[in-house]
Formats: sequence, C-alpha cells, structure tokens
Amino acid sequence: MSWKDQIKQDKLPRHIAIIMDGNGRWAKRRGKLRIFGHRNGVKSVREAAESAAELGVEFLTLYAFSTENWSRPRSEVNALMSLLVSTIHKEIKTLHDNDISLKAIGDLQSLPPAIYKELQDAIKETAHHKRMSLVLALSYSSHWEITDAVRKIAQKVSDGKLVPEDINADLLSKHLTTRDIPDPELLIRTSGEFRISNFLLWQIAYAELYFTNKLWPDFRKEDLYEAIVDYQKRERRFGKTSDQVK
Ligand code: IPE
Ligand code: IPE
Ligand code: MG
Repeated sequence: MSWKDQIKQDKLPRHIAIIMDGNGRWAKRRGKLRIFGHRNGVKSVREAAESAAELGVEFLTLYAFSTENWSRPRSEVNALMSLLVSTIHKEIKTLHDNDISLKAIGDLQSLPPAIYKELQDAIKETAHHKRMSLVLALSYSSHWEITDAVRKIAQKVSDGKLVPEDINADLLSKHLTTRDIPDPELLIRTSGEFRISNFLLWQIAYAELYFTNKLWPDFRKEDLYEAIVDYQKRERRFGKTSDQVK
C-alpha cells in the first residue's frame, strides 16, 4: 500500500511546517555551486504545496530564509533573493491552479524592495483562494518575532491601552506574525539535522517533530505522505495520561 493510501483523512494535520534544509549539500555532492541546490529545491516546494493542498491540509508553512541566513556570503544571499522573485513570479500559476493563497511571515520590511513588492502583489492576487494557505517564512526567526511581539505589548502598556495583568499566552500569540494561523501539528525537517534553527519556537510547543535524511531537493510527494502517516501513529497527550486521551 502506498503511503498516500495509509493516510487517515479524519486525522489530517491542519497545519504542516517544513524546515527545507540541505540544498547546499545536494549541490556539493554533484560538484555544483550551492545556488544549483537552491534552484533544484523549487520543484520540491511545488510538490509539497500541491500534495498538501490535494490532501486538504489548510496551512503549509515553509522556512525559506532565516534572519541568520543574512550572514551568508553576499553572493549567495543575492542569488537566493533573485531566485525568490523569479519563483514567486513563475509559480503564481501553480497557486491559482490549486486554489492556494500566499502569505508571508517574518521581518518582511528587511527584504529588498523588489522582492517585497513581488511578494505583496502575489499575496494580493491570491488572497481569494480558499483551499490552502501557503505561508513563506522570510527573514524570519522566532527570536525576532517574539522580541517584536513583546515590544508591541510593552508599547500598549506604556500607552495605557493594556495593563500587565492582561498579558497571557493568548495575548502574546495575538502579537506574533502568525496571529491568524493555527499552530502547526507537524513540523518536518529535511537533511538529517536535528535542530529547530529559530523556527516557530512558540508555535511548536506541542507539534510532533519529524526528521528525515532526505535533502530538500530530493523531497517528493511520497515523502510528505510518509511524514503524515508517521504523525498519525503518534499519541498526542498534551500533558495528560494515555488513558485520558484514549
Ligand atoms: C536550505 O538549504 C535553504 C536555505 C537555508 C536558504 P541550505 O542552503 O541550508 O543547505 P545546506 O544545509 O548547506 O546543505
Ligand atoms: C534553516 O536552515 C533555515 C532555513 C531552512 C531557511 P539553516 O541551514 O540556515 O540552519 P542551520 O544553520 O543549519 O541551523
Ligand atoms: Mg542548511
């Protein structure tokens, strides 16, 4: 039986997040420049988005560029940024064809103006699509996001719009860039690294983590199905006992 046939529709995660890692190593193994790996990762993005939408997943968040990635060599950052514009431009048809709306989280103001504009245009053009939201994490890190949220809350307290007693987990969630997005139930990381790299630290409090050795450019629909099947075998207890959740 294929992985897809083993997926139980009634236990589908509403939100899957992916740390797309391993592009550089994929290219290196072929004796190519790192950007060759990034270019070949675009097909994996399309496959992940199409398969998640077909299944009925409501949100797919992809970690495309972290705050820390700005420290990579200038040439790689520039190449990644131009790949981003051209990909958004080219893949808009995939979004329309699959009824997918584009969203973005992160410090978007720090992106080069051309990319910011391309992104905002694509977000506006696809806003009416209903089947799934594809969320790109761009210039994103949880430290940035949580610090930004705390600053906004502190400003409201200082302006007399909030008192410290109003601050709770729900209020903090509402000040994150993910305020309109449910927390992911499943987080996938490719390339065999076992770390989170500053991604959705608050939101993954109770997510199931799935690590695969596949490098991102090799990630295909079957790999997403396999991760979902693995997720569905787990017992999610949220601090309760096994008997309580059965
Ligand atoms: C992930 O692949 C893509 C980005 C972080 C932009 P990497 O570029 O990190 O590839 P490796 O981890 O060096 O192989
Ligand atoms: C995480 O990958 C960021 C993205 C996938 C965009 P990195 O390759 O930057 O993470 P580290 O440096 O290995 O932790
Ligand atoms: Mg990496």
